[in-house]
Amino acid sequence: MERSQAENKIAQLRAQLDEWSHQYYVLDAPSVQDYQYDQAYQELLALEKQFPDLISPTSITQRVGGQILTGFSKVQHQIPMLSLGDVFSKEELGDFVQKLWENTKQTCAYSCELKIDGLAISLRYENGVFVQGATRGDGSIGEDITENLRTIKAIPLQLSEPVTVEVRGECYMPKEAFAKLNEQREQKGEAVFANPRNAAAGSLRQLDTKETAKRQLSCFIYYVMEPQKYGLMSQTQALAKLKEWGFRVNKQAQQATSLEQIMEYIDLYHEKRSSLPYEIDGIVLKADPFSVQQELGNTVKVPRWAIAYKFPPDEQETIVRQIEWTVGRTGVVTPTAVMDPVLLAGTTVSRASLHNPDYLKQKDIRLLDTVKLHKAGDIIPEISMVVLEKRPKDSQEYQIPTTCPQCQAKLVHLDEEVALRCINPKCPALLKESLAHFASRNAMNIAGLGQKIVEQLFDKHLIVDVADLYRLTYEDLLKLDKFKEKSATNLLTAIDASRHNSIERLLFGLGIRHVGAKAAKLLAQHFGDVESLSQATSEEIAQIDSLGQVIADSVVAYFANQQVKELIAELKAANVNLKYLGLSQEQQQNVTSAFSGLTVVLTGTLDQIKRADAKKWLEEHGAKVTGSVSKKTDLLIAGHDAGSKLTKATDLGIKIIDEATFIKQMEESQSE
Ligand code: IVH
Repeated sequence: MERSQAENKIAQLRAQLDEWSHQYYVLDAPSVQDYQYDQAYQELLALEKQFPDLISPTSITQRVGGQILTGFSKVQHQIPMLSLGDVFSKEELGDFVQKLWENTKQTCAYSCELKIDGLAISLRYENGVFVQGATRGDGSIGEDITENLRTIKAIPLQLSEPVTVEVRGECYMPKEAFAKLNEQREQKGEAVFANPRNAAAGSLRQLDTKETAKRQLSCFIYYVMEPQKYGLMSQTQALAKLKEWGFRVNKQAQQATSLEQIMEYIDLYHEKRSSLPYEIDGIVLKADPFSVQQELGNTVKVPRWAIAYKFPPDEQETIVRQIEWTVGRTGVVTPTAVMDPVLLAGTTVSRASLHNPDYLKQKDIRLLDTVKLHKAGDIIPEISMVVLEKRPKDSQEYQIPTTCPQCQAKLVHLDEEVALRCINPKCPALLKESLAHFASRNAMNIAGLGQKIVEQLFDKHLIVDVADLYRLTYEDLLKLDKFKEKSATNLLTAIDASRHNSIERLLFGLGIRHVGAKAAKLLAQHFGDVESLSQATSEEIAQIDSLGQVIADSVVAYFANQQVKELIAELKAANVNLKYLGLSQEQQQNVTSAFSGLTVVLTGTLDQIKRADAKKWLEEHGAKVTGSVSKKTDLLIAGHDAGSKLTKATDLGIKIIDEATFIKQMEESQSE
């Protein structure tokens, strides 16, 4: 493609991607399928690679992070970032409102907003372009975290108008992202975050901005500096303007004109609190007209025109009856407190992870202790503290186990890890977890082979390692509880089908340390088969995009192991595919076909290609393949003896092609 042509195409792709991204991350209203987005993104990436001088700092491709920072420089806030005064009861809040009305001699409106539990950030835009982002710091001097903030998709890199403006808001980690992150950290033997706020703070201060990019942070903006410059008269108007400029603004903000409405707002969100996807710790009340805000002014630390009403903490007392230790897939042994059940934020809770021995020791949790329980991020039960006054007199410090609860092997701490690990490769708990992981959906995807079945197979000595799965017989399966002819046949079919998986599934399923699904795919694409990968050097692997030295060393160490070599040989003997069957990364980037972006239905009997292969091919070429014909269908591929779908498509005026035409178009796409 010529440069001028590329320039146009790049502009077009950026505009499209920005719009989709805005709909998804800012408006919470996705409008396209992931694959369609990915395809446009890959196309843009390829063009920018070809014409690097056309890359602009506001391009969506610049959000992935990658800069390794050496530290954070200081930023002086032009106008101090204030905190808020707070009250803990409705009476105090009522007093605050009344007093304010008395002082200003008018009953002005209030902007009621949720108090997002995150970190305050300040963002500067020059002529509509994001130029600097900072933390609050001590209010007058914060830290420059521009590169980290750039990775947050809810923060626009370019505004809808070329304004020069500074805005402020709250950066946070959604509850779900927090739960996932902690789960991963626990399994990796890393320390966990106490709550989403700490997780967000830790994520924003990553020197490797790629790490920030992975953390799924988001933000709400609620403050425009020097609003009069933009003709804004009130907070309500400011929020509307922020939204217009492209910022993510919390939809729950409401204007209230009476004390009654304010109290209703509090009650409503107190109740809804646990069902929101982000954590709030109260509500913020702001005098709505800027004239009133100006009249009242600020104290040194807080505005006189706003106040935070803090929710009472949702906490319950209960008694610790037992501490259970479980061995995960990676050998990490995790303690869980088992307590008398209590009702907490809408659910009955009786278990709380204690994460690792350090955590347990720090909190000094003992058997029969009375503890205060809350939900971190409103979802994860966590012991906040021990109620020491209620500790039994004869209580003894809890002894951390030194041997594995499953296999009695000695437990160890690897490197500097906080986690305790069982490193016996034959530990039954570890083997069972690894087998279940191997069969799981993102790995070999063996339907019907869940944790429970794996445990039975293992306990009945029918399997020990993953190669054994491929030697299971029909008779073996009939030995399982409630297994009959049909369930046994289904499972055998599912196991057999997994033989034909492309190797990224196998590589992920083997549970090589540090190799997640994404790394597995990159390795598969780069090396093409298990054989070549197993002979690769650490340098070769480390050179692959986004795989680092840690992964490279881990892969090399894995394949150097004699037992692994034997396992791979056994898998090969069992006819498990050891090759990559998808497209290489380069090929994938170049895939644009007549089918890109189309919603396609396959019907009737196909003679030259298997239905599943046709589906796979279409999906790899950007189509969405669905099962039924509707108005959204773009194309029907009809084999012979097609029935009602063909009739319906004809009625709806949908484009229909036969198998021969489809094959021809496939070949044409292939040779492009
Ligand atoms: S207004 C001068 N609005 O709460 C304006 N703050 O405890 C001060 N916060 O530092 C901030 N949600 O980080 C405001 N809707 C909201 C907020 C909010 C969360 C945070 C903010 C502030 C802290 C004070």
